[in-house]
Amino acid sequence: MLNNGNFMSYFEIIGGKKLNGEIEVKGAKNAALKAVAAALLSKEKWTITNFPFIEDTNRILEMIEDLGVKVVRRKNKVEIEARTIKKNNLDEDLTKKLRASIILAGPMLARTGRVEMYHPGGCVIGKRPIDMFLDGFKKMGAKLKQREDEFVLSAEGLGGARIFFPKISVTGTETMMMTAVLAKGETILENAAMEPEIPMLAEFLNKCGAKIRGAGTPAIRIKGVKKIGGGKLDLIPDRIETGTFAILGALAGGKIRIKKCNPDHIRALLVNLEKAGVRIKEKKKELTVEGTEKLRPVNLTTHEYPGFATDLQPPFTLLMTQAKGTSLIHDSIFDGRLMFTEALNLMGANVIMNDPHRVTVNGPAKLHGRKIASPDLRAGITLVMAGLIAKGKTRIENIYQIDRGYEKIEERLKKLGADIRRIEK
Ligand code: EPZ
Repeated sequence: MLNNGNFMSYFEIIGGKKLNGEIEVKGAKNAALKAVAAALLSKEKWTITNFPFIEDTNRILEMIEDLGVKVVRRKNKVEIEARTIKKNNLDEDLTKKLRASIILAGPMLARTGRVEMYHPGGCVIGKRPIDMFLDGFKKMGAKLKQREDEFVLSAEGLGGARIFFPKISVTGTETMMMTAVLAKGETILENAAMEPEIPMLAEFLNKCGAKIRGAGTPAIRIKGVKKIGGGKLDLIPDRIETGTFAILGALAGGKIRIKKCNPDHIRALLVNLEKAGVRIKEKKKELTVEGTEKLRPVNLTTHEYPGFATDLQPPFTLLMTQAKGTSLIHDSIFDGRLMFTEALNLMGANVIMNDPHRVTVNGPAKLHGRKIASPDLRAGITLVMAGLIAKGKTRIENIYQIDRGYEKIEERLKKLGADIRRIEK
């Protein structure tokens, strides 16, 4: 039964409560999705621990089960055994729900020589092209047939290739890296992404028998092998959850202790929070953040890792609406990632859109609650945070978007003292 999430439920929030206490970070969504896809490369069992059960990971697990792959879900881990892959077409409905479904095309091609799929859907944060994926597969010897938004990739065995990414792409890098594991000969990826999820995956693939060097740098070399084995992969903590909760602490703390995280993975955020006057105490696997009324404005440009993550721009922009002065926020990665500021303005913020990539934020602005819908998952959590600091009641619709990336979020926020309820319609 495909649980496609309840699209009619909403969150009801009464703002103004100070938040105190501890919150544990879950395993990284954007590591889990790629690990599930990479598991198709092996015929042996992969056990993935610290696994977040959220809508996006539910969807990708449903997609591989639909292909006949064995999936066993346990408390916070999943076991995957792709002994056989029974079909070559990816479920259309699931593909359109999950932008990251494009990642499956690589391992499918490498294992079976053919994949039929639709252009992936996902977020509203801007056109999500897949030209670099298709170019990469063709360079490795695949043939592409396209009809409207459906395409078929086929290959009599993939060959290593030299692939230069015209734009740095996280999933592009991960997909070509995992696909090259089973391609004949050497593949070189240049201008590759360096997000922490990439070396994590490479290290595990090497434990299973792959030959990958340079993951986490702009140049990755992969020597193809005939097959890879199985093993146990413990996912790194979700750095976007970590950063989101750190900003929440600055906005609505009292004092919030963020546990099971890796502060090194959000260094760019921590540096900017200090610049904004936020007091943070750091330990190896935890952060303590205190709320502050005296926030200073900070100008920010997002950048590929290790720069400031675009996924943390929406919560940081909200933070700047509470700073005393003017901040310039530039999201250099996506076209649509600042659209949510219109909703913040409806709540009383003062944000001017200079162009689709740049806004000017004037603060501090007193926010008041209202009914709004979450456009995508990172803007969605930001609107929840806005409701938590706004005066009065906020109702947030379309919370499937938030459930895509944050496991049981209202329960975890309630534990910090938030007045938030999920209303199932
Ligand atoms: C990954 O998306 C993340 N998703 C995104 O997180 C994150 O915002 C993004 O990286 C940037 O950090 C996953 O890992 C599943 P890109 P991805 O390819 O890989 C352009 C979240 O909230 N591009 O790095 O899809 C693209 O339009 C999500 O968890 C092409 O032009 O992003 C963008 O401008 C949202 N052609 C730029 O590259 C392509 O073929 C970077 O995108 C592919 C991408």
